[in-house]
Amino acid sequence: MKKEKQVDAGLRQFIKDLGYVTGGAALLGTVPWLQSFTPDKLNEIKKEKARIGLIGTGSRGQYHIHNLLGMQHAEIVALCDDYEPNLKTALELCPNAKTYADYKKLLESKDIDGVIVATPLNWHAVITLDALSAGKHVFCEKAMALTMEECKAVYEAYQQSDRVLYFCMQRMFDEKYIKGIQLIASGLIGEVVGARCHWFRNNDWSRPVPSPELKRRINWRLYRESSCGLMTELACHQLEVCNLVTKRIPESVVGMGDIVHWKDDREVYDSVSLTYRYKNGVKITYESLIANMFNGMEDQILGSKGTMNLASGMYYLENEVGANSAIEQLLAQIGDKIFSAIPAAGASWRPETKKAYQPHPIIKGSFSVSDGMSMIGADKDGSDEMLSSFCQACITGEKGKDIVEEAYSASTLCLIGDQAMREQCRVEYPEEYKIPYMEF
Ligand SMILES: NC(=O)c1ccc[n+]([C@@H]2O[C@H](COP(=O)([O-])OP(=O)(O)OC[C@H]3O[C@@H](n4cnc5c(N)ncnc54)[C@H](O)[C@@H]3O)[C@@H](O)[C@H]2O)c1
Repeated sequence: MKKEKQVDAGLRQFIKDLGYVTGGAALLGTVPWLQSFTPDKLNEIKKEKARIGLIGTGSRGQYHIHNLLGMQHAEIVALCDDYEPNLKTALELCPNAKTYADYKKLLESKDIDGVIVATPLNWHAVITLDALSAGKHVFCEKAMALTMEECKAVYEAYQQSDRVLYFCMQRMFDEKYIKGIQLIASGLIGEVVGARCHWFRNNDWSRPVPSPELKRRINWRLYRESSCGLMTELACHQLEVCNLVTKRIPESVVGMGDIVHWKDDREVYDSVSLTYRYKNGVKITYESLIANMFNGMEDQILGSKGTMNLASGMYYLENEVGANSAIEQLLAQIGDKIFSAIPAAGASWRPETKKAYQPHPIIKGSFSVSDGMSMIGADKDGSDEMLSSFCQACITGEKGKDIVEEAYSASTLCLIGDQAMREQCRVEYPEEYKIPYMEF
């Protein structure tokens, strides 16, 4: 009961805080997917509960269970997994839920309003399509699907459906991202001239396997039949942010992907480096590596007047930059190992070699920042707000504006990036996968 109140209060505060920045009307115009998510609407439905079935009770599924247990307007009525140990753990968290080993049986239940799909990527499209056909609202984990064809099939099924469909691209509900994007739209950092996104970790990305025949199932992220690796797991979130900022889709991509360090039998790259190019010449430089974590995770939007670092929740203005004092520069450069020895005959460095930027927080007061190291999910990164919004939509039937279109755009960009790396060529965004929502 105590947790219920906390989550609900957080949700209301989230909307209220956003209102402080832009005013209600402007807020709803710039982040239309929040239109159905106001405190008033929550008040209207507070006595009802969305009846939720969860398909895929692994680590992310269990993370969602913990969030759902804190929501007044949600009730977990069914659980499904074809791997018994995970189903058992989930059942311990919500002992009144019915259990299923076959998701199709769960979908037959008349007692379920919406399903959450937290399975490996190769099941996202299949289960989402079946669930929409069965009349269920769907909240599916990102990415949308493993192939371009599947993404298109899901998008088209959604166009024909009156059901609600969400994909868990939680930055759309992360307060610091939303406010940062609004500040960029207000002109704070000038013209957007580039984006630099990266995600670095240092671990082999694998999980312990109880018996050898389960290896490809449990470590599904590492194999091509079930994953596009770093692109669909990590880049997906970050490319979406760039699209939200520019309100455009890059028209082409080049990239290189390799297995540099983790030379086991994995099939997906452990090192990727790509450049996406928008029609106006603005580029996203994207890098991800899982054998060095020095640079962590950042989503940097580069403007002619400043830089918005959305992941860390800080921005920096070019007109406030000042050269550090000479001694500060020298110390910093020695720290950075630019010089192997201190120059004996005085300073030989230029003032512009080391700049000090004044950091400004995007949000006043305390806010949550993720270092991007967790494979399960970060605290207060928008996931629980997005899920709460979905549960509310299961009751009202109101679709989340732009959510599917944004997921489609980001997911297909990941897939053409992967194609560019595999085929070692520049890939243009294919005509047949363009949807009316996309502006290039
Ligand atoms: N949005 C985010 O930030 C975020 C974070 C972590 C994971 N994820 C996504 O969540 C999904 C799950 O990731 P995970 O780390 O929990 O994986 P996991 O392997 O821990 O869990 C997946 C579960 O799905 C079950 N499963 C597989 N096929 C099934 C089927 N046909 N029917 C029913 N159950 C089935 C597996 O047995 C397993 O229990 C992935 O798509 C991943 O990309 C998203």
